[in-house]
Amino acid sequence: MGTTAGRLGDERFRRDLGIDYAYASGSMYRGVASKELVVAMGRAGYLGFLGAAGMPVERVVDDIAHIRKELAPHRPFGVNLLGSLADPERERAMVELLLTEDVRIIEASAFVKVTPALVRYQLSGLRRGHDGGVVRGTRILAKVSRPEVAREFMRPAPEPIVARLLAEGLVTAEQAELARRIPVAQELTVEADSGGHTDRGVASVLLPSMQALRRDLTREHGYAEGIRLGLAGGLGTPRAVAAAFALGADYVMTGSVNQCTVEAAISDRVKDRLQEIDVQDTDYCPAGDMFEIGALVQVLKKGVLFPARANKLSALYRTHESWEEIPPGTRRQIQDTFFKRSAEDVWRETKEYLERTGQTDEVERAGRSPKRRMALMFRWYYGYSSRLTFQDPDRDPANLQVHTGPALGAFNQWVKGTPLEDWRNRHVDRIADDLMRGAADILTEHQSR
Ligand SMILES: Cc1cc2nc3c(=O)[nH]c(=O)nc-3n(C[C@H](O)[C@H](O)[C@H](O)COP(=O)(O)O)c2cc1C
Repeated sequence: MGTTAGRLGDERFRRDLGIDYAYASGSMYRGVASKELVVAMGRAGYLGFLGAAGMPVERVVDDIAHIRKELAPHRPFGVNLLGSLADPERERAMVELLLTEDVRIIEASAFVKVTPALVRYQLSGLRRGHDGGVVRGTRILAKVSRPEVAREFMRPAPEPIVARLLAEGLVTAEQAELARRIPVAQELTVEADSGGHTDRGVASVLLPSMQALRRDLTREHGYAEGIRLGLAGGLGTPRAVAAAFALGADYVMTGSVNQCTVEAAISDRVKDRLQEIDVQDTDYCPAGDMFEIGALVQVLKKGVLFPARANKLSALYRTHESWEEIPPGTRRQIQDTFFKRSAEDVWRETKEYLERTGQTDEVERAGRSPKRRMALMFRWYYGYSSRLTFQDPDRDPANLQVHTGPALGAFNQWVKGTPLEDWRNRHVDRIADDLMRGAADILTEHQSR
């Protein structure tokens, strides 16, 4: 007797989330993971996350309304909540919106610790069940790539935060009490090396390590219900998905393969490029939003110069105290080929943007610190390269910043010579079907050997 796609992963996970398959599509920023993508996933019995990061609030509200209208009431969907250490107010406002819109599942990513906003979201959904157990009306799928962050999510909500929310009247005494008995997140998506922001983890190292952590914390806190660990990163073929389940993943999540589909909200020209990549056609560079810290993103390398240039700017930033200290020849090259405008124009645009968005303290800081000013100018380049990708990919192709990972290269190889070679035939739900069915067949074959 073999297995089938619908039996892969954790049964309770599927049941609790209301999905037919233990498979989710991850959030992709600025609505790349679009409302259409989420609807296609939901209709087919999978879980899709709307890429709400970097999206205007009104659009998030509209997209949620659209998804609700198109999906049958019993079909779930999720929305991304991005952690922001620098701007807790933005995080708080987003949680407010998610609760107002009655969004029941969120993907919490880029968190380094459990914040009051997250706890508020978690506790707002708690109630006591008929059997005295804890019922979760809201679910946080925490995306983690580091054990110390996973540990926080596997613990009950921090007491001081719960006490404060209770004092502020934002949660009830019952919710505060129930919170002591369960982890903040019942589901954690362990993210190995992936497209976009990445810690470059290795799945076969990271997942077992998180599973050990789960065992320890479940024992320590005596949880009545198990924590589920999903795996993301590098999943682009049935064999990779089979390996994830063989490692004991309770569910899987894909990302890069979904960006090169009809449903993804990115330009056709970018999809044309993505459809051609192989497994070696991506590279790492510092992330624009965390430029000074050196956090990494994985991006398209084939046919573009963006990663090489971003790495060059990062090296210059580390070794120079100001823009003016950089040798004139290098400065000229950067202005002519990276920025495509003068340094003065870049700074003027940066300053205008900061003033327009109320970040005058940043302008003042840059006035005092030439190194800070240089960092802001280099960050402008990230904004520029990203705008090109979303708005006008043909204008300056060398500078395109396209987040993607090698899982897409593996997928492209796998579908070569089939109708799916052309992204115009690629649909997120069809990809999910093929990956899950293929994985089930592979695991069945292994069993029978
Ligand atoms: C273009 C792109 C944008 C992404 N944006 C986000 C995001 O906004 N929030 C998030 O949690 N993950 C984001 N991710 C990560 C995916 O949700 C997913 O975890 C990851 O892509 C899985 O690894 P894979 O790319 O190897 O399949 C993004 C990935 C890509 C490729």
